[in-house]
Amino acid sequence: MIEQVRYGGDYNPEQWPRAVWDEDVRLMVEAGVNLVTVGVFSWAQLEPAERVYSFGWLHELLDLLGQAGIGVDLATPTASPPPWLSVRYPEALPVDARGARYSHGSRQHFCVCSATYRTRARRIVERLVSEVGEHQAIEMWHIHNEYGCHVPYCYCDNHAQAFRAWLQRRYGSVEALNEAWGTAFWSQRYGDFAEVLPPRLTPTFLNPGHELDYARFSNDAFLEEFLEERRVLRSARPDLPVTTNFMGFYKPLDYFAWASELDVVSTDNYSDPADPDGTMLSAMHYDLVRSLNKNVPWMVMEQTTSRVNWRRHNSAKVPGQMRALSYQAVARGATGVLFFQWRASRAGAEKYHSAMLPHSGVASPVWAEVTGLGGELARLGTFDGAGVEARVAMVFSWANWWALEAPAKPANDLTMADQLSWMYRPLYEAGATVDFCRPDEPLGRYEVVVVPSLYLVTAKEGANLVSYVERGGTAVVSFWSGIVDERDVVHLGPYGGPLRPLIGCEVLDVAPLPDGEELEVEWEDGTRTAAGFWTDVADEGDGHVLARIASGPWAGRPAVVEARRGEGRAYYVAARLDPAGLERVYGRSGAVPAEPSVLRSGPGVERVMRASAGQSYEFLINHSAEERVLEIAPGGFELLGGTQIGGRVTLPPLGVAIVRREDDRGA
Ligand code: GAL
Repeated sequence: MIEQVRYGGDYNPEQWPRAVWDEDVRLMVEAGVNLVTVGVFSWAQLEPAERVYSFGWLHELLDLLGQAGIGVDLATPTASPPPWLSVRYPEALPVDARGARYSHGSRQHFCVCSATYRTRARRIVERLVSEVGEHQAIEMWHIHNEYGCHVPYCYCDNHAQAFRAWLQRRYGSVEALNEAWGTAFWSQRYGDFAEVLPPRLTPTFLNPGHELDYARFSNDAFLEEFLEERRVLRSARPDLPVTTNFMGFYKPLDYFAWASELDVVSTDNYSDPADPDGTMLSAMHYDLVRSLNKNVPWMVMEQTTSRVNWRRHNSAKVPGQMRALSYQAVARGATGVLFFQWRASRAGAEKYHSAMLPHSGVASPVWAEVTGLGGELARLGTFDGAGVEARVAMVFSWANWWALEAPAKPANDLTMADQLSWMYRPLYEAGATVDFCRPDEPLGRYEVVVVPSLYLVTAKEGANLVSYVERGGTAVVSFWSGIVDERDVVHLGPYGGPLRPLIGCEVLDVAPLPDGEELEVEWEDGTRTAAGFWTDVADEGDGHVLARIASGPWAGRPAVVEARRGEGRAYYVAARLDPAGLERVYGRSGAVPAEPSVLRSGPGVERVMRASAGQSYEFLINHSAEERVLEIAPGGFELLGGTQIGGRVTLPPLGVAIVRREDDRGA
């Protein structure tokens, strides 16, 4: 059990002369660093030529860190094979959809289906374990780095072969494959699995079933490689937790499937500090990551102290923002906040990426912030392991994301990210913390379940959502849900498929609206809000119409419908309502409190509750550049300032308060 929030970063000492390491460790101690990730990109240092190993430096480094009491998250170096590997074995390099082979000279240049790569990756991991696996400084294994980053899909012949085997396992016969993909269309019928290719360059739209299965297959191929590395590590040190760093809402990998294989879920968050939606997106990122495996801890493996270097214009975090954003993660349950990277590089492609220890060293204002936060976190402890309280769940699945954004749709600008933000934002602003859930996971513990455009829904998932409602739950389901099955084949009849019981109207067609066009929406009490982008063309069904389209060609059609099912209720939102409209649905469904929240004192204040048996922790973070005055419950103790607090509270710009209260709810 970790007794302190983990604090530190990627440490790449191989970029520095030996003398610098001593200073590094001394400064790490000064900054309160207690965990560093080592070895992520060290393959060429550890194995400078095939089967020629050099581990002396790593032994020395682990000793140094261990003596200073700094834990090591030891990485396998398989995300960046050394040049000798691709020179000798070009088939280990990935190939793009046009057939062009990537070269070495950057990173992530490997084909995960290449037996050559796989053998050598396994070999270096085995060697790593046999050389240093017993070292006391190691606290955790960090497998690979950001699987899929830069090259999520490879289209080479190794992949073609593995894909065919995968399809054979999934469908059994080529007839079943033809049926699933609907290959009667455009003369795409396959006579044999051997005719199937990766979705390489084609004149126009590929078969969407083909693309969907390639996304599934590619995810599985990376996961298989991860599991192979994990097997090696676990067989030597079954006592050490295993992680790999995710990238939040990263489309190519189904992180729900991955997270169930991890002991610690970790993520890298580089949301843009200058984006007005940045804190909302970052909250959503953390809610997702916390929810991927609800039985294990999670942490931020990478963020930046100030700038990244890979956007067109890399806005710096303003003083105080790094601290506020780090507490945002802690508020949402993170057991660690780490950075890329410890010391800013002098050379290479990331030398202008901010670090904990900048080029200017300890004189930099960033260093003062880094040591300040490290000192605070060390004093705070781990909040008794208090869990994050979420009454609301948001349903999300990667297969849906893949299918939803496949081309040739009524609205090709309907994205998962937009649908998620649209439905998440009012919850975030009202301080309603959200767990993310797979559509087939048990939902009974949530009061309200929000379902943004669950376009692809299986019979099992549909049954799960319907039974959640019938047993007393409340669902808020948006348009463009229940459209296709797992093969991307349309559910006929009024749209909705297995979700139809939750849709109290008959969705006969859909109408994407011209850019910028707004429709009026009239509620039962005569008040009006607006909708844009999309409306369903629905007839009334057995539900109660709460709001109708009130202008334009679809005037009179249902816009929001409430259906009572069993013990519960379902709200169907048939158009992209404006925030005021969606807030009304959320108010009525109980997703957010009907009366204005204490947070409405001004935008930019985030509130998250954590609780354990006997204690609660209220996190208040003012992300705005102005002072905010809030009204909070009485009788708390503010941990950062060490004072009693309650009632009216003033938070300075980027200010943070953590209010502990005795709480007998869970006791
Ligand atoms: C991450 C990566 C790090 C570093 C960082 C820069 O994607 O894991 O190695 O490149 O981005 O922002």
